[in-house]
Amino acid sequence: MIALGSDHAGRDLKKIIMQHLEAKGIACRDYGWPGEPAPVDYPIYGLAAAKAVAGGECEKGIVICGTGIGISLVANKVQGIRCALCSEPYSALMSREHNDANMLALGARVIGPELAKMIVDTWLQGQFQGGNHAPRVEMIKTIEKTGAL
Ligand code: RB5
Repeated sequence: MIALGSDHAGRDLKKIIMQHLEAKGIACRDYGWPGEPAPVDYPIYGLAAAKAVAGGECEKGIVICGTGIGISLVANKVQGIRCALCSEPYSALMSREHNDANMLALGARVIGPELAKMIVDTWLQGQFQGGNHAPRVEMIKTIEKTGAL
């Protein structure tokens, strides 16, 4: 299950990504915002999607706002979340292989829908490589829990 979340700026791209994933048989759950394109606050929906991933309700999550910045900042405040803001597939792949990112953020005002689909597909196909990357991810978790190394 993939958690999706967006504000008003990301809503249309989120719907495109949701249809794209569901057409491939990948189940999605939309944590908002589903309504008309009037301004809403991205922290509300970024938090909801991130909590679904951190709590195990969803395996991974994709969050979208205008730039992807605000909603990625929110997701990364939730313990256990490693959210990567990506505008091209290489970083998306590396965020899985090296950083074990469990959430992806996209900027709907930065990239177009076809590039977004490519980034999402690449990110979902990526597998964490472990090895020398594993202790670094553990260090991120330690900083998250203790504020230090
Ligand atoms: C909304 O105008 C915009 O600020 C928001 O979508 C996002 O880009 C914030 O980081």
